[in-house]
Amino acid sequence: MERKISDFANLIIKSHNIVALTGAGMSTESGIPDFRSPGTGLWTKVDPSEFASINSYISNTSKNLNFMFELGITIFRAKPNKGHKALTKLQKLGKLKGVLTQNIDGLHQKARTKNVVELHGTVNEAICMNCKKIYPITTMINQFVKERTTPYCLECNGILKPNAIFFGEPLESKVLDAANKMLADCDLLIILGSSLLVYPVAFYPHKVLEIGAKICIINIQETDFDPYSEVVFHEKIGTILPQIVEIVEKEI
Ligand SMILES: NC(=O)c1ccc[n+]([C@@H]2O[C@H](COP(=O)([O-])OP(=O)(O)OC[C@H]3O[C@@H](n4cnc5c(N)ncnc54)[C@H](O)[C@@H]3O)[C@@H](O)[C@H]2O)c1
Ligand SMILES: [Zn+2]
Repeated sequence: MERKISDFANLIIKSHNIVALTGAGMSTESGIPDFRSPGTGLWTKVDPSEFASINSYISNTSKNLNFMFELGITIFRAKPNKGHKALTKLQKLGKLKGVLTQNIDGLHQKARTKNVVELHGTVNEAICMNCKKIYPITTMINQFVKERTTPYCLECNGILKPNAIFFGEPLESKVLDAANKMLADCDLLIILGSSLLVYPVAFYPHKVLEIGAKICIINIQETDFDPYSEVVFHEKIGTILPQIVEIVEKEI
């Protein structure tokens, strides 16, 4: 184990354009459930087609909002964990260019990591499904909780939704462009808590391997990319990443 930790740290020390790719497993140690962990993942409790799909949101907005509201409270109360903080420290050491995240919880920003691309949007904002105007999420929460109405746009009366990508919605092209730009000269991709089953993220390891970059993974479960990685830990991010960053700090 110690050998693997120092191998991982050495890779970081030798690399110059390091990008972290983070999934829902990054935030489970902050108390936010992921989708696919056995026993605790959200998919063990709800049907994905019922929740977080755009068609289901349109046809049954208040049922969806009731469920999202519960998850939203967990997200809004959550604090960055040891893993988020370790990434911020790595960036301050000049060893992390940026983060591509599938997460919608804003915890990287709360931990003060810079250059974060939120591939799936954020639940800290609401968007009008008609005119695309962006509101703080509190606008939507106030309408739903205090006024007991379906959240609506103050400009055009369209329905509001959290500004996160639902199943059945395309990702924003400007976000995809920012991710591609960040990966263009990446020489080390650190993959943290992503099952790597959802596109486009599932494609990113291929993309960087093709340009000669290395990949390292920390995930409590196996992923399809374990065989292509320089170092793999099947451990919690919060247990491993701070130890790696501590070595980097001592040795650079
Ligand atoms: N926090 C959030 O913002 C949040 C929460 C749930 C779902 N989502 C959405 O879920 C989608 C699913 O993709 P995904 O790959 O991110 O999630 P996922 O649920 O498919 O995979 C999470 C992975 O993290 C691993 N994991 C869980 N806790 C861990 C820990 N402490 N340390 C290391 N590994 C850990 C699991 O083994 C799993 O492989 C994303 O698109 C995202 O938008 C986001
Ligand atoms: Zn509108």
